Parts: sequence; C-alpha cells; structure tokens
Amino acid sequence: MRKNVIAGNWKMNKVSQEVTQFVDEIVSKIPTSENVEAIVCAPFPYLAKLVEQTEGTALKVSAQNMHFENEGAFTGEVSPIMLKDIGVTHVVLGHSERREYFAETDETVNKKVHAAFNHGLTPIVCVGETLEQREANETKAHVEKQVKQAILGLTEAQVAETIIAYEPIWAIGTGKTASSADANEVCAHIRQVINEVTSEKTAQEVVIQYGGSVKPANVDELLAQSDIDGALVGGASLEADSFLQLVEAGA
Ligand code: G3P
Repeated sequence: MRKNVIAGNWKMNKVSQEVTQFVDEIVSKIPTSENVEAIVCAPFPYLAKLVEQTEGTALKVSAQNMHFENEGAFTGEVSPIMLKDIGVTHVVLGHSERREYFAETDETVNKKVHAAFNHGLTPIVCVGETLEQREANETKAHVEKQVKQAILGLTEAQVAETIIAYEPIWAIGTGKTASSADANEVCAHIRQVINEVTSEKTAQEVVIQYGGSVKPANVDELLAQSDIDGALVGGASLEADSFLQLVEAGA
C-alpha cells in the first residue's frame, strides 16, 4: 500500500523566527501514522536548523533545488553532498518555477535525479503542463515526456523510490485546482508510463503527488482518488495549522 506524502513547499518565504515558530507549533502534533509522511521544503539558509529542530520527529526536511555536481566552481550553487552532510532527506527537482525562471531542462532534472540517488537523497520530481498545453490537449504527452526524461537511466529500485509531483502550472498559486478527476487521470497516466518503462510492481509503488492550490478544503477529495498519493503544497503549507490539517488528511 502506498503512503500519502504531504510536502509543504515554502518557496522563497519565511525568515528564521517564522521557521522556529512553525516548527514549535506543529512538530509534536505531526501524526506518526504509517500512512503519511510529512515534509517541509525550506529555503537553503534554514535547512540545517530545521534538521536540528525536527530530529527524532516525524517531520522530514527537503531542499527545493540543488546542483548535480558534487563540488567546484559553481558560484551560488549547493551540492547534493552538502545537503546530505547536513541531514536533509529529500530534494524538490524540476519545479515549474525552476524550469521557467532558471532555465531548468528535462536534461538537467535527469542529472539532478541521478545525483540525488548517488548521495542518498529522495527526489521529488515536478512535472506539469501550461494552460496552453492543456487547451491544446497536450497534457498527457507533455507530462509523459517529462517523466520519461526525468527517470532515464535509473534502476527500477530507484524509480520505485522517486516521488513524482504532478503540478499543472495553471493551477499553481492561482486558486484554480484541477478537478480531482482530471488530476487523477493525469496521475494514472504517469503510473501507466512508469509501468511501460519498468514494471507493474514498480508502477504500483511509486508515490505520485498532486500540486496546485491544494488546501484543507479540497485535500480530502484529491487524496480519495485512486492514483493521487499526497500533495505538494505551496501557499496552504505556510501556516502551521493549515499544513497540519493537510498532513492529518493524509494519515
Ligand atoms: O510546489 C507547490 C506548488 O507549486 C503549488 O503551489 O501555492 O498552488 O499550492 P500552491
């Protein structure tokens, strides 16, 4: 049985006092149920402190990006070795904002996914279509290409451990959520693609999240779908209360 992974992507939000307050408010309340995994994806400056604050709790800590190289002359970048070194467990890769504003490509996402596994980090790989692609009926083809490129060259065991986040770009931060049936249809298609590339067993193991204006009011319906195994949440993950409600919905 797959578990629900609820990840709060803070994006470029919060300063240290807010981070401490958030953790203080929820860390003891995160359910320890086997059905759910709770993750906060924080900006780089707060990761080490968060790892310390959440030690021994059910809350995991993720980065929002990283370089694929281990070290070297890459000013301003952070390597997988550094993330592993400070105790981070997950890393978000290929978020649509990285693809749009920082020239992230399917090829660099694939390199980063390999780098994550090489250093014992679990990648949360984001895929999703623009409104234009949806209207042109290109959603499945586009997402299929992104998924295939992201997992290219992975072992089957690594594919099984990869978390995929389906985030339609037009639903991010807009208040527009894909209908739960539409979101499920794309997630089911992703699972089918993984089945074709690997096996039915692996396809059944992969966690596929939905992301895009998820909030306490719509999370139950989304999680009730057959192929949605959690959520990658932006805005509604910033408030401790609301993040906790989302995690509880997944438990
Ligand atoms: O990565 C999460 C995200 O892009 C969705 O953001 O604010 O629509 O929940 P939001």
